[in-house]
Amino acid sequence: MEVVETIESSFLVNLLYLLGAVAFVWGLRLLSSPDTARKGNTYAAIGMGLAIIGALIEPVQNGGNNNYGWIAGGMIAGALIGFPAAKKIKMTAMPQMVSVFNGLGGACAMVLAIVELFQNQGTTMGLGQAAIVYFTLLIGAVSFTGSLLAFAKLDGRIKDKHVTFKGHSILNNILLLVVIGFMVFLMINGGTQGMIIGFLIVSLIYGFSFVAPIGGADMPVVISLLNSFTGLSAAAAGLIFGNQLMLVGGILVGASGTILTVLMCEAMNRSLFNVLIGGFGGGAVAAASDDGKVAKTANASDVAIQLFYSQSVMFVPGYGLAVAQAQKVVKELDDILEANGVDVKYAIHPVAGRMPGHMNVLLAEADVPYPKLLDLEDANSALPNTDLVVIVGANDVVNPAALDEPGSPIYGMPVLNVWEAKNVVVLKRSMSPGYAGIQNPLFFHDKTKMLFGDAKVSIQALVAEVKNL
Ligand code: TAP
Repeated sequence: MEVVETIESSFLVNLLYLLGAVAFVWGLRLLSSPDTARKGNTYAAIGMGLAIIGALIEPVQNGGNNNYGWIAGGMIAGALIGFPAAKKIKMTAMPQMVSVFNGLGGACAMVLAIVELFQNQGTTMGLGQAAIVYFTLLIGAVSFTGSLLAFAKLDGRIKDKHVTFKGHSILNNILLLVVIGFMVFLMINGGTQGMIIGFLIVSLIYGFSFVAPIGGADMPVVISLLNSFTGLSAAAAGLIFGNQLMLVGGILVGASGTILTVLMCEAMNRSLFNVLIGGFGGGAVAAASDDGKVAKTANASDVAIQLFYSQSVMFVPGYGLAVAQAQKVVKELDDILEANGVDVKYAIHPVAGRMPGHMNVLLAEADVPYPKLLDLEDANSALPNTDLVVIVGANDVVNPAALDEPGSPIYGMPVLNVWEAKNVVVLKRSMSPGYAGIQNPLFFHDKTKMLFGDAKVSIQALVAEVKNL
């Protein structure tokens, strides 16, 4: 009788894990389009729910201690912190939140590995098993401190210059050798609790030091890379505990994080190595161009007239759109222009904003129809036939220095060639640089006019002016 119950319960656990894995894959598939992303998130959450139910049943099936009190405590504490935090977080601070969650995922894998190592003290672990456990500890620890530092940098709590110095990458290479050497020693010889804690401390230090020299503008890339590390550590933890769903989930996170990292590097035309050795971005503020040209300014009524008499208008959203939360007023302006027969499109640069798909998400939130969004290549083909480009809080992604200034830190990054349109209006608050910290010659271009002010306020003024025409 007991045997039959065990078989039934193990069948149930495996079934739940299988359904969970299918929900993860299906959810990930749906996340690839803004139209279906919300549904994809729900499916993945259902998959995680099934995984939790499976994990709750499994210890009972194995006749072990189920620890339901601890599990319930953990779940309640997690929900009490996670739910309000996710509800309260501003769209612009989403990368920070992802970073913290990522770090906590790494910490979980790290703690699991320590428990496993402590429990196996005195027994001989096979080399393969030891390799997996120490790898989980290392990657989990690196993801933990690395992600927390990435959070602090992105949130402006720590400045790059406070945590790095010239030649930092040499120290990192030495640290990496120490960490790997220590790990191999422990794998072969086993370790006392003190040695394991020593290895943990060195791994935590390496995680911090690994992220320290990487520039602020590159943080999203680092977060994505650390995310893939966390996936790998979760997959390795799945191997340790023979949990197939943890393995599948970890592999999915690891693979998607790696793909995202590669795509971001390609969109910035930088190698991952170049990102990791750091040093991108400065802090120059430009009021006049190097050759003494002064930027031309416009007021809302000038721009409204230009908009009204244009046949085609292209909005170029950037990070400033997210800061100003101007997406809904942009859509309102778009509707008015379309009603007047103006063809309105949006040019979406792959790294505009601070996270992948940032602009797509904001514009989808404002119900901008997806076909109106042009990717980099399509937008660049359409720009020479566009009457007016309205840049809403974008800077680096429209910087011509990327094409014609070999010394520029963004040289080689594909940009939107907005200067090929007939007229350009830039909406931003000042002449301050964008994330890369460099001057933008576009602001001094003959075709360009600056409309200074918060993007939302400026667009609201444009809406009012266009309505009056
Ligand atoms: P940025 O170059 O960062 O420029 C944003 C501009 O928005 C700033 O110059 C700022 O000027 C303006 N702004 C800020 N708040 C505003 C407000 N309330 N109203 C109006 N304007 C405002 O943005 P971008 O063009 O989107 O480029 C993104 C940058 O992030 C690139 O360097 C990219 O490589 C980097 N990056 C992005 C990603 C992803 S995945 N998106 C990943 C890695 C790196 P003022 O202060 O004068 O207003």
